[in-house]
Amino acid sequence: MAIDVLIVGSGAREHALAWKIAQSPRVGKLYVAPGNGGTAALAENVPIGVMEFEKLAAFAKEKKIGLTIPGPDDAFVGGIVDVFKAHKLRVWGPTKEAAQIEGSKAFSKQLMDESKIPTAKFAVFTAAAPALAYVRARGVPIVIKASGLALGKGVYVCTTLEEAEKAINEIMIERVHKDAGSEVVVEEFLDGPELSIHALTDGSAYVLFPPSQDHKAALDGDEGKNTGGMGTIAPVPWAKPEIMASIDVKVVVPTFEALKKRGVLFQGLLFPGLKLTLDGPKVLEYNARFGDPECQVYMRLLKTDVLDLFEASIDCTLDAVRHSVEWNRGFAANIVIASGGYPEEYKTGFPITGIDEARNVEGVIVFHAGTRLENDQLMTAGGRVLSVSAVGGSLKDALDRAYEAVGKIHFEGLHFRRDIGQKSLG
Ligand code: AMP
Ligand code: GLY
Repeated sequence: MAIDVLIVGSGAREHALAWKIAQSPRVGKLYVAPGNGGTAALAENVPIGVMEFEKLAAFAKEKKIGLTIPGPDDAFVGGIVDVFKAHKLRVWGPTKEAAQIEGSKAFSKQLMDESKIPTAKFAVFTAAAPALAYVRARGVPIVIKASGLALGKGVYVCTTLEEAEKAINEIMIERVHKDAGSEVVVEEFLDGPELSIHALTDGSAYVLFPPSQDHKAALDGDEGKNTGGMGTIAPVPWAKPEIMASIDVKVVVPTFEALKKRGVLFQGLLFPGLKLTLDGPKVLEYNARFGDPECQVYMRLLKTDVLDLFEASIDCTLDAVRHSVEWNRGFAANIVIASGGYPEEYKTGFPITGIDEARNVEGVIVFHAGTRLENDQLMTAGGRVLSVSAVGGSLKDALDRAYEAVGKIHFEGLHFRRDIGQKSLG
């Protein structure tokens, strides 16, 4: 019997999930709440916000939705899964308790500390003065983070004391991240290339996805402020099986063990962000959901019906399917096109042109994030506007195709990084 599915979110991650789920032979009607200009073409957009859990649950009941897939971190951290479960609705992902591993950096750092999971040395502060004193004592480079959720923008990598003082000031005094900054984590700077690890679990068995890599800084050469992510590649050619095995043993397994020891049932996607340092892999942070734009490259590469995976994660049957998960050969790349100024202030409401031309490039799918349709004209409506994804036989093919497509798209002030995946070529 066909299952009607509701996806919750409005980013390119959710567009990519919708694109993949729409290909399942088992899917019936597909809804996205609230969706965007891209999801409107594949699914019915429902004008209910990501955080309106009771309204979403009422909608799911009314439409007899068979499965709800939330995308964004704030929905999980806010307890969307708990609300749906309380209404006896079938929903995928971690509960509020389990999503703390992402929602509170103080919680996740303590968990890593207790279980000896490699991570940066750190201290947690609830006031600015002792945080500053600690920073002065440790010296630079140093990393300062708002403890709560801050759309990927609450992290400050500081190379001078002035920058560090400014960061503490923004987080704790000016409160630019609001309550996310009531606690601040100050941690050791880790050097090395970054990796995104995705492990889908049912609370017992898990499936480790191929390694992917995001590029968090706004500008080429990893300069500028941190963003939600400006571009991804997968798989990462240098993250060889031995590296993945060591990450599995040193990070993934002990994290699941540590959650179990605390009596926390984690079902859904665990996404540790890592740095590969000279001392081995170290965890930068945990996420309790798909990355955005990591999800886009995964959906392009996954051959298996993703509905089977979501259902196995809910029904605790992953052990039976995990060996049959198939990935397409080759590579995927995803370039984010953002509004000028993002992640700081930016303007919206500009017409977007060239998407059809971009889509005609071989191997390319354009996922939408901050877009909306206004009298049939696509307009910009957010910071990250489009995710241009491509697959290819080699990483270079995938990147060349994605950039060729990016070159065909225009709107006023657009901005993208020109060096996604560069360091992994050759
Ligand atoms: P997070 O949200 O904690 O993953 O941090 C966002 C980005 O900031 C990461 O993807 C890294 O690029 C950078 N970052 C965070 N923590 C550190 C650290 N301890 N050392 C170096 N870079 C970091
Ligand atoms: N791309 C990183 C994240 O979704 O947090």
